[in-house]
Amino acid sequence: MHIVVCKDYEEMSRRAAEIVAEQIKKRPDGLISFPGGDTPLGMVHVFADMVNEGKVDISRTHYVSLDEWVGLSNEDEGSCGLFNQQNLLSRLQHPFAGTHIINGAAEDIESERVALNDYISQYGPLDVSVLGIGMNGHLGFNENGVDFDLDAHIIPLSETTLKVMTKYFGEKFHPTHGISQGIRQIMAAKTVILIANGAHKAEILKKAVHGPVTNEVPASVLQNHPNCYVVADEAAAALL
Ligand code: PGA
Repeated sequence: MHIVVCKDYEEMSRRAAEIVAEQIKKRPDGLISFPGGDTPLGMVHVFADMVNEGKVDISRTHYVSLDEWVGLSNEDEGSCGLFNQQNLLSRLQHPFAGTHIINGAAEDIESERVALNDYISQYGPLDVSVLGIGMNGHLGFNENGVDFDLDAHIIPLSETTLKVMTKYFGEKFHPTHGISQGIRQIMAAKTVILIANGAHKAEILKKAVHGPVTNEVPASVLQNHPNCYVVADEAAAALL
């Protein structure tokens, strides 16, 4: 693992976006994936600015979202789809060659799962996978105890995720499941970038980086990835 300690959230966001851009320059026709949420917000904005300023060309690059709450569509507040739309896709003055944003409200969620696998098979494997880390060590919605051999799947959400994530949609929505790229697809990415900020992530980041590799801390699997960057601010990196 390459550990990159940044002085604050802004530097973490910039460094992560730069690593993504470097990889796209090496392989302009690759497939990339970003998570949704508070952690990646700054990185996604920096990345969109880089595209708009002509610093990185995404005209041959494909994009796929990482995960979604089952039951939420791309128009619903708190959805990863809306995050992608508002913070990335609508900001881009030069679009990706193609995008696939998971629809958690699809009537046939099993077909949605298959469509996610199909998109990654068609344009992948992932060139760059950017990930956040949950308070329970999850990656996307690969929750504690997840089977590391799975591709895209639908998974019950953990207690921790349900508690922490109500920040995104309050009491309006009570999700029970997530749909997510699987660990197998994440581990097949040529480059993985795990981003984390804030003192509340220090303990779980330490377990992910220095603890045993176990599906009880899904992010620990990244210790086995040949090219994984951990880009964290000083607060999150305090125990590394
Ligand atoms: P956060 O979530 O960005 O809301 O901290 C990270 C995650 O659960 O992956």
